Amino acid sequence: MKRLANAIACVLVGAVGLSALDYERFKTGEELFKRCIPCHGRYANEKPMGKDRDISRLDEKEISSKLSAYSLGRTTGAMEAQASLLDQDKIDALSIYIANMHAKYGEELFVLRCSGCHGKDASKSAFGKSGIISELDEKRTMEILSSYQNGVYAHGSTANTMKGRAVALSNQEVLELARYIDSIRKAKTQTPDDAPKN
Ligand code: HEC
Ligand code: HEC
Repeated sequence: MKRLANAIACVLVGAVGLSALDYERFKTGEELFKRCIPCHGRYANEKPMGKDRDISRLDEKEISSKLSAYSLGRTTGAMEAQASLLDQDKIDALSIYIANMHAKYGEELFVLRCSGCHGKDASKSAFGKSGIISELDEKRTMEILSSYQNGVYAHGSTANTMKGRAVALSNQEVLELARYIDSIRKAKTQTPDDAPKN
């Protein structure tokens, strides 16, 4: 069990690009996020108390500055009470967790269920038949996977193999995978110029 957890941790640090220190914060954030789940959902993409705020779409900086504003009482509402319990370390941990959680779930799913045929970095043609899926953006992957689920996407005799895999996925898993595959695409197309500068 522990070995598996460690193996996943290594994969995560590699692909999502978190340093070991950031990974510590990520784990702390994962713990803290448990109390956010009742309103924001396990994947941070539910409408809290019916309000249209999908926090899974925010980047780390946006999450951090919103939480700071709440904790300083600059904005009022349901979140003010939540955020008053947070100090800067907790805000950092939550921000890094929320901003990277999708890549983590997506990566775990991909390694378990897809990489055998599509390659570890999604850049192998499955059975020499499929396209290179790391070239697909989030929207396109979602479209294709739901087409397989409905049995209408087939460009070869191998389509049934892929259909079986797609049908086994929940909507949430489709979303997580599409986001993860998109993150590989972005990492690959990133030129030295838009690479983050430290
Ligand atoms: C009791 C329900 C509730 C809980 C628990 C809760 N939130 Fe919220 N959250 C909301 C609501 C409602 C909003 C919408 C903004 C508002 O009206 O205050 C919101 C907004 C936010 C926003 C800003 C979204 C935006 O786009 O402006 C962030 C970030 C956020 N929450 C993070 C968290 C984190 C992190 C936790 C856990 C520490 C948490 N929330 C716990 C209800 C909750
Ligand atoms: C057993 C091998 C196998 C596994 C496992 C598998 N695939 Fe496939 N996949 C294929 C094959 C073969 C094709 C080409 C099918 C066809 O002819 O339409 C394909 C096609 C695709 C395509 C369309 C690419 C294109 O050419 O447009 C996507 C997207 C895709 N797979 C995603 C996934 C995802 C995500 C997973 C993990 C849940 C997965 N696959 C698991 C074999 C596999």
